[in-house]
Amino acid sequence: MATAQQPSLDERRSAAAERLRAYGQQHLLHFWDRLNDAARSGLLDEIDALPLEMLQRAFADRSADAKQDAHGILPVTPVVMDQVDSERFVREGSAVIAANRVAAFTVAGGQGTRLGSDSPKGTFPATPILRKSLFEVFAESIGAARARWSARIPWLIMTSPLNHAETGRFFAAHDWFGLGAGSVHLIMQGTLPSLDWHGRVLLASEGAIALNPDGHGGALRALDQGGWLDRLAREGIDTLSYFQVDNPLCKPIDALFIGLHHAHPESSAEVSSKVVAKASAAEKVGVFCQRGGSRFVMEYSDMPREMTELCDADGALLHRAGSIAVHVFGVPFLQRLVREGHGLPLHRARKKVPCIDPETGVHTVPTEPNAIKMESFIFDTVPAAQRALVAQTTRVEEFAPIKNAVGDDSPATSNALQTERAARWLEACGVQVARDAATGRCLAEIELSPRTALDAAALAKCTSLPAQVGAGERLTL
Ligand code: UD1
Repeated sequence: MATAQQPSLDERRSAAAERLRAYGQQHLLHFWDRLNDAARSGLLDEIDALPLEMLQRAFADRSADAKQDAHGILPVTPVVMDQVDSERFVREGSAVIAANRVAAFTVAGGQGTRLGSDSPKGTFPATPILRKSLFEVFAESIGAARARWSARIPWLIMTSPLNHAETGRFFAAHDWFGLGAGSVHLIMQGTLPSLDWHGRVLLASEGAIALNPDGHGGALRALDQGGWLDRLAREGIDTLSYFQVDNPLCKPIDALFIGLHHAHPESSAEVSSKVVAKASAAEKVGVFCQRGGSRFVMEYSDMPREMTELCDADGALLHRAGSIAVHVFGVPFLQRLVREGHGLPLHRARKKVPCIDPETGVHTVPTEPNAIKMESFIFDTVPAAQRALVAQTTRVEEFAPIKNAVGDDSPATSNALQTERAARWLEACGVQVARDAATGRCLAEIELSPRTALDAAALAKCTSLPAQVGAGERLTL
């Protein structure tokens, strides 16, 4: 028997139908009569969760489709990490880490479609020789940081409904990589529906909406609704070290960067971001820019081509502060954004989304884009900071993303960069590494675990370094 607290399916259906009609989305109930009660209930749950008002507004905002206007946009001049007083800032950062004020945060809710894999991207074999997964590399790095600073460093990982369960199974199967299940937290992000060209919500099947993860900007909502921001604050954690799941060279815990975030005069300790000099005008990275004194990231797909190609007096790209999507966020800053109801804008992308015809129910797998996906981006928090620090690092030290199966940003390019960084660290320790005389390319394959060393200075303390690494050699350390 239905009670006042638990409306019957029919009552829920009537309420949903009325709400849907107000937004022109009544087709979502078109196949109601063909569904069993479980499917009806599931569909109503999805409908109830739809932010229809927000979707309507975002769809109507045509400016979201246009390339950005380059007028009045200036480049930013980053703080160059190689040129700061590193001793001082490493000391500052180390004190923050050792005081248990830092948590690591990985966004891993994306779909990884470009890599051609259905599995969570973090499970992808990423290292050149041992084929360790991305998650394992980060786990080793976080474990090593815990040991170095005798700190707790909880690890938060954002998943999506599409990969949450599988990610959990993967960690459990690997015994949480020795970090302890209680210190690794999987936090599920929300979803948004795909829309057709008329703004109608697409159905994946007769009883299910075509939903996609709501973008890494969904982290703000996921951290807030899961009570994580308050929990971190209660535990004295005011520093969130944020990185993407696709970059095995990233430093999940970087004392220098954390020190700059907390103590550099250009920082308000709200959000700090790492950039590298763009490799070419066409490189697919967001770029830090400023307008009217306010810094922001212009995503590569939004930047007009002529703007990507502008050069300065020295012939270098003018807008070259390429985001590697590594940030440090102040937890109080994120709490303030939530408190002030700071909704991140929804970006739109044209995508191929399998769906059914809303009239006939016929299923289609499109070969051309047929839908608009909505996502929010975490870097849209940058303009809300009083002073957003932008710090430039060296590409080979920190950026070797795996995004595509072949070509740019693929396992092959990432493995080459991982080897190159390891070779440089070894050479800095006096080890001779075989290189091609003409190109300087490393002729060996080298895999260096974060457990062995988190940086070149730590590697120098390693007692088992070889005197040389020969051509064709495969060395794991
Ligand atoms: C991203 C950045 C780009 C940056 C580049 C650096 C965006 C929109 N662009 O590009 O500015 O220069 O990385 O490598 O992010 N994710 C979620 N949930 C989602 C969507 C994505 O957790 O709903 C995660 C993914 O798992 C991944 C990261 O966000 O870790 C990046 O997503 P992706 O869409 O692959 O961005 P890129 O186009 O690679």
